[in-house]
Amino acid sequence: MNNDSYEQHVIESFKVICLCKSVKKGSILKAIKEGCTNLSDINRKLGTGSGDCHGERCQDKIRQILNEVT
Ligand code: FES
Repeated sequence: MNNDSYEQHVIESFKVICLCKSVKKGSILKAIKEGCTNLSDINRKLGTGSGDCHGERCQDKIRQILNEVT
């Protein structure tokens, strides 16, 4: 990974995916690395989907991340 793509990776990891619970993309990637294999696993581990919007704003984004890395 060159410096530019590493920098981009770091910036991406700070992106907030679940606004209600302030969960960043990096935390989701870490949860996947630690064994979460589906949306329910991630929601259980990080609390995503249980905020005021009940996942309306984040669940599709998390599914997309899962599809990208699994
Ligand atoms: S943004 Fe994730 S529960 Fe609302």
